[in-house]
Amino acid sequence: MHDIASEPPRNYVSPARFALETERLFTRGWIFAGLACEIAAPDDFLRIPVAGHDVIIHNIGGELRAFINSCSHRQSLIHTESRGHRPLVCPYHGWVYDLAGAPSRIPAKEDFPQVTANPGAFSLKAVELDRAGQFLFVRITPGGPGLAEFLGEVGEFLGNVSDSLDRPLDEFRSTINANWKIAIENSLEGYHVPMVHRNTLGANQQFSRNTEDITDHLVPSGHSFMTNRANARWLKRWQTYASDTGTWPFSFNHYVHRLVFPMITVTSFLGYSFHIQRFHPDAQDRTSVHSRIYSSKHSGRTERGERMMEAIFRENIDFTHRIFEEDRSACETTHAGVLQSHSPAVFASTLEQRVAHFRSTYLKAMG
Ligand code: FES
Ligand SMILES: [Fe+2]
Repeated sequence: MHDIASEPPRNYVSPARFALETERLFTRGWIFAGLACEIAAPDDFLRIPVAGHDVIIHNIGGELRAFINSCSHRQSLIHTESRGHRPLVCPYHGWVYDLAGAPSRIPAKEDFPQVTANPGAFSLKAVELDRAGQFLFVRITPGGPGLAEFLGEVGEFLGNVSDSLDRPLDEFRSTINANWKIAIENSLEGYHVPMVHRNTLGANQQFSRNTEDITDHLVPSGHSFMTNRANARWLKRWQTYASDTGTWPFSFNHYVHRLVFPMITVTSFLGYSFHIQRFHPDAQDRTSVHSRIYSSKHSGRTERGERMMEAIFRENIDFTHRIFEEDRSACETTHAGVLQSHSPAVFASTLEQRVAHFRSTYLKAMG
């Protein structure tokens, strides 16, 4: 394990460190970009920030391709919205691009003999793109392990989630004025729950409080997950409604929190919905968050079951937003404190083992 016990606090607040991790971690690693089901139709696209790069993923005739968002002509952005539906055409002078990213139609093309003679030489800059089920990942600098190798067993989990995703219930974007690692680490331990979430998560009756029902799992490549069994009494009552709520493809009796290293979390309770959160470092002290909750496909649900689940979904969305605000405040307060600190942090050996696993993987990747 890399020595997290001596990691200086400046690693969490310094612009120089941020520049270095942008290069070592975020341009060389597989970075979650979005869901294929969000751009399922030809001409659908999404646009995401990846380590200082502006990346677009475009559905071109049913095929997905990723490019740097900069036209080959005079370098205008091609897309300006974070998601939309439009052909791959530059809005400035109307250059049209094909599947390979080469300009395939150019207004007044006779004026560009150098381009029409060799369009491939004027292609958009392609970005490596791969997927695990519906989860799309890009890598700015090619080389290193493939996506399947990097994900390991997480790939199977993402595949199971992908088979479940039905419709988006909620989506929001927000900013946390704290270092991205503070936001990730905050999500990796339940130690703060009694203080930070005492009226929300801490008061929740659905989770078992027995320590043997809460298990951390550390996975290679910095991934990890935690499972927390449902409260046995609560679960028994819940199961009496099974004939109404029906079944869903990826069903379990616990809450699960997954980190896909370095910066997405996927969580679910029982598998009837999934919450996917992408944390993107904008600066050493600013993290943008993109959050989506999807319901799961289901069968055998009665009308009463539909009404029940709708009420549960509404409550979960509200709950998620409240918890997000509580965590945001804790992260911002922590960042301000780290700025004042001159000594390394201290870790609980079991309660914070996922944090330690994240930090040591991070330090290894940083070399
Ligand atoms: S800058 Fe894109 S067509 Fe001119
Ligand atoms: Fe929290």
